[in-house]
Amino acid sequence: HSSHHFCDVGMVYGETGCGASSSSSKLLIKGGTVVNAHHQEVADVYVEDGIIVDVKPNLKVDDDVNIIDAAGKFVVPGGIDPHTHLAMEFMGTETIDDFFSGQAAALAGGTTMHIDFVIPVNGSLVAGFEAYVNKAKNSCMDYGFHMAITKWDEAVSREMEVMVKEKGINSFKFFLAYKGSLMISDELLLEGLKQCKSLGAIAMVHAENGDAVFEGQKRIIELGITGPEGHALSRPPALEAEATGRAIRLAGFVNTPLYVVHVMSIDAMEEIAKARKSGQKVIGEAVVSGLVLNDSKLWDPDFVTASKYVMSPPVRASGHDKALQAALSTGVLQLVGTDHCAFNSTQKALGIDDFRKIPNGVNGIEERMHLVWDTLVESGQLSITDFVRVTSTECAKIFNIYPRKGAILAGSDADIVILNPNASVTISANYHHSRTDTNVYEARRGKGKVEVTIAGGRVVWENDHLKVIPGSGKFIEMPPFSYLFSGIDKADASYLSSLKAPVKRFKSTA
Ligand code: URP
Ligand code: ZN
Ligand code: ZN
Ligand code: ZN
Repeated sequence: HSSHHFCDVGMVYGETGCGASSSSSKLLIKGGTVVNAHHQEVADVYVEDGIIVDVKPNLKVDDDVNIIDAAGKFVVPGGIDPHTHLAMEFMGTETIDDFFSGQAAALAGGTTMHIDFVIPVNGSLVAGFEAYVNKAKNSCMDYGFHMAITKWDEAVSREMEVMVKEKGINSFKFFLAYKGSLMISDELLLEGLKQCKSLGAIAMVHAENGDAVFEGQKRIIELGITGPEGHALSRPPALEAEATGRAIRLAGFVNTPLYVVHVMSIDAMEEIAKARKSGQKVIGEAVVSGLVLNDSKLWDPDFVTASKYVMSPPVRASGHDKALQAALSTGVLQLVGTDHCAFNSTQKALGIDDFRKIPNGVNGIEERMHLVWDTLVESGQLSITDFVRVTSTECAKIFNIYPRKGAILAGSDADIVILNPNASVTISANYHHSRTDTNVYEARRGKGKVEVTIAGGRVVWENDHLKVIPGSGKFIEMPPFSYLFSGIDKADASYLSSLKAPVKRFKSTA
């Protein structure tokens, strides 16, 4: 039947229904090609109580074990989406997918964990964290949190420490755009970078020059352009490149790792390439929209169609997409997220008279794995091991949860996807599991299909049926000082010795 429904939502796992197989807590995935970022081989994967117990060819198991045949298919670590906004209050409304619907969509697309951005409440990180713990209580897959920093004072600085040392957050996002709401100054960014460094937390930036965007919006509105195309026209690639370069230089000045979220243009990507070439620890995050979309639909005469593409930074002119794909395949960019931030057409209509009021964001949490496979693996740009690296493993390493996540190894969490390279999928709002009524990837057909998703050792997606349990997802604490911090102290020491400080060269004679 139609796949646009939830089979057995909330059903206690272990009962059968709706064509999805029943399962004990013991599972054998048989005869597939098991792919990790470092290696692939034909092997069986044995799972008990949510944990991978063994990965070897021809495993022998007891009769009470459920067997899933994966011959001719790839068995890959569940996807990890490093960038989502579920149940976020933003631009006068709230994203249409909450933690349950967004995660269910993710699972149907082979993503088994995501990291969402906590927005502080009135500047309070603790209050923001508590609000998000509450939003996430119906989770049906594992998740972690980044935290946005939207103002600065001593209390924020202290709360950052609480978040890292007590709450399992190891990354903070600074917005250089959204003037008047989330945007922060360079002074604040510097304070934030210093505090991130001392805590071993990763500084993330939304890199667009918010003052210049504000100016650009005024200019475009004065020209009488109020439609969705005005959004892209008002914030060109140069403003993304400027903020990217500025954040990189300030992070270099402080000597702390920097993670640039949603790199959307060649211009910004080249700033990252240059910094990495010089040896600076800069991570560049591609998002699916930047890899596969272009700005042409922003000029569509139908507002519903045009407005669904509005996100920040904007999707760029054709050509940026291909260049970002090449950057991902050559390692200039290291991982792929979605920035899933879904609004339905009614919400998008808040900006029917003024593009500045169109809630910013596109969908993608369900489509990411399929689109990366079809666009990059099918085209020969990415190997299958690299597919695993950019969709899962690298994210787990950066946010310091590897190899619990991001690998199919004995001892890892049993978050596993079976992908059939010979099957196809067609994306449509008619079938997707997000609550939104549009899809920016509408009618795209691609090779490669996520046929089975296993989250925490349970089969949650099989035969086009979702079988998810609200409340079964766990909060994954992410410890500080990931691999990006190794060597930071040595670089500091060599900088200090190069200054030959603290020699006092001049003395007053008075
Ligand atoms: O348009 C976007 N990207 N919306 C989500 C908020 C953000 O900047 O990541
Ligand atoms: Zn069904
Ligand atoms: Zn952003
Ligand atoms: Zn975002």
